Amino acid sequence: MANDKNYVLITGGTSGIGLELAKLFAQEGFNLALVARDFSELQAISVEFHHQYNIDVITIEKDLSKKEAPFEVCEEIKSKNIRIDILVNNAGQGAYGRFTETDIHHELEIIQLNIAAYVVLTKYFLKDMLSRNEGRILNVASIAGKMPGPWQSVYHGTKAFVVSWTEAIQQEIKDTNVTITTLLPGATATDFFHKADMEEATLVQKGDLADPAKVAKDGFKALMAGEHKIVSGWKNKAQVAMSGILPDKVVAGMSEKTKQTCR
Ligand SMILES: NC(=O)c1ccc[n+]([C@@H]2O[C@H](COP(=O)([O-])OP(=O)(O)OC[C@H]3O[C@@H](n4cnc5c(N)ncnc54)[C@H](OP(=O)(O)O)[C@@H]3O)[C@@H](O)[C@H]2O)c1
Repeated sequence: MANDKNYVLITGGTSGIGLELAKLFAQEGFNLALVARDFSELQAISVEFHHQYNIDVITIEKDLSKKEAPFEVCEEIKSKNIRIDILVNNAGQGAYGRFTETDIHHELEIIQLNIAAYVVLTKYFLKDMLSRNEGRILNVASIAGKMPGPWQSVYHGTKAFVVSWTEAIQQEIKDTNVTITTLLPGATATDFFHKADMEEATLVQKGDLADPAKVAKDGFKALMAGEHKIVSGWKNKAQVAMSGILPDKVVAGMSEKTKQTCR
């Protein structure tokens, strides 16, 4: 499938789960188009991957929490005359704290990053994929999307959107060769909790954080197999199954305990 002019576009491909996914694609010989905010990190990865895997890496420095940014990414890809065979919507952040105390402007940026950027990029590249009747999309959601999340209410809500919206599109394109896969990781050892200012939460302090390389491998395998959905890790699978059975109020109470500070 890998070809000189064909690329995998990964948002947030410079850290955590996105970086591990980028490595997997690079190992398979795919060229990469990576989107993130930090120019020096993008540059360093581009040089390293080009030498290590002999692939082409395009870097796009963009803050996807800004309204116009995902449209600008589409324009930049178009202007480079390259083809995106696989889109990975991965860049996402969390906002931590009681809803009445968190910053609304930050939360609106999170909604833009975790929802609107996914929607814009998917609409643009899915149309292109459908016209060729080939292509794959991986939407990184979270098990947070399957349960209410006190102290992370907006984050959980954004991930619930990604889960529901992706399932709806899967149905709409079911008779084509294009596939969309949702990856639902549980708590994973990345910079996510630092960025969300929630390193003191019980979940982080006492939780069993997953290895981002393992999460990426699960997502990669499911994507390449054209599966609809993958929950990474058996404990997370059990947690998602439980939250589907227990009353929402009980699940919200259990979720709250993991979010409170443990010190
Ligand atoms: N870690 C977890 O426990 C966990 C669990 C379930 C789901 N997830 C999901 O997994 C995805 C990846 O998160 P991660 O844990 O790998 O976090 P991470 O290590 O913090 O990586 C986030 C990546 O996204 C980029 N990014 C962040 N904000 C951005 C913005 N405004 N515009 C463009 N790029 C941005 C970052 O680069 P720059 O900072 O340079 O922009 C980085 O490359 C997210 O969607 C997250 O919700 C994470």
